[in-house]
Amino acid sequence: MTILSIETSCDETGIAILETTDANTVVLRGNALASQIDIHAQYGGVFPALAKRAHAEKIVPLLQNTLNEAGLLEAKTDESPIPDLSFLDEKESALKAHLIPFFAAYKKPAIDHIAVTTGPGLEPALWVGINAARALSIAWDIPIIPINHMEGHIVAAAIEKIGEHTYRFIDISFPTLSLLVSGGHTELVLVEKFGVYKKIGQTRDDAVGEAFDKVARVIGLPYPGGPAISKLAHEWRVATKESHAQNAFSLPRPMLHSGDFDFSFSGIKTAVLYAARDKGVLSDDDKKALACEFETATIEVLVKKTLAAASEYATPTIIVGGGVAANTYLREQLALTAGNTATLLFPESWLATDNAVMIGLAATTQVISRNKKTRNPNKLRADGNLSL
Ligand code: KG4
Ligand code: ZN
Repeated sequence: MTILSIETSCDETGIAILETTDANTVVLRGNALASQIDIHAQYGGVFPALAKRAHAEKIVPLLQNTLNEAGLLEAKTDESPIPDLSFLDEKESALKAHLIPFFAAYKKPAIDHIAVTTGPGLEPALWVGINAARALSIAWDIPIIPINHMEGHIVAAAIEKIGEHTYRFIDISFPTLSLLVSGGHTELVLVEKFGVYKKIGQTRDDAVGEAFDKVARVIGLPYPGGPAISKLAHEWRVATKESHAQNAFSLPRPMLHSGDFDFSFSGIKTAVLYAARDKGVLSDDDKKALACEFETATIEVLVKKTLAAASEYATPTIIVGGGVAANTYLREQLALTAGNTATLLFPESWLATDNAVMIGLAATTQVISRNKKTRNPNKLRADGNLSL
């Protein structure tokens, strides 16, 4: 069974092709990702109208590359008609302009399902992926599996590599706890099994990735802020390791003792802003020290709450997902504190940030569990606030 997956929820355009060879094994046959970081960097965040335009420009070339990589791109030899794409006329003319020559040139590939992210995310961006999926579904007469982006982030951590392009689903003992940390979300989710989720806590204001991005802007670092902050923080930790000196900056650990599993990161972001303002001009060392204290404070809250939730719900496994799961310090701190009592699952770094492979993996779990939720292509909707 072969799934073509599409991800356009934010600022990465992704297409992947996954083939399930037996009940547990997945071969990654093709994977392409186009990042819009350069487009959005000047705004310090993602600009929805520009994201939509970039997805519409990139998605068909990426589709072509991915099919080609998978050995599934075959030139048409007949004059079979191009499908009616008039539903794209009003809002998706750029996408339509790319799809017409694509359908004119290539045959229907050996794909069984199309998986597409329908939310959460930026709706104009989500619609591009959904409309591309609709067009492919109609033209090739194959079903669509709508996927929740956050489910993709969870499932991305549940595989292990067993060959160059081959992965196996890890045998997980459910229920498991998932810490989801991305640019738009910070959540603790109880996973009864794939497809059945219960949110037990979430941020009441900013997501942790968003806080990294905003603090990076205050310190004068480029978007996305997570990797840049993390790099400075690491340098400061190494530089001050011998001296054991206290950090000159001291930031709050919001909601550490709130007694629930919710988070709040807007206060800590504001505290960074005030600390920077008080200093006037930040020296390079100030920037490093502030980045370090910010990362230490946010990760401390994430780790302590995650441990408390794992203990309360007695979950033997903790799955960490989302862009911030790429953070080395988070990985280290969780391993230090929970490594002996729980199995920790992190995605490979390239699978932590947005990509289409995780969307295909989530769809694969639905097909494997025979609980596949296909949808009439004309009834698909983007839902920016879609919840697990
Ligand atoms: O999951 P993702 O790629 O997109 C969303 O669904 O939001 O997450 C992107 C977020 C950004 O806020 C970025 O700054 C953060 O993940 N991020 C990191 C790291 N790498 C990416 N945050 C902290 N440390 C990192 N190494
Ligand atoms: Zn994401």
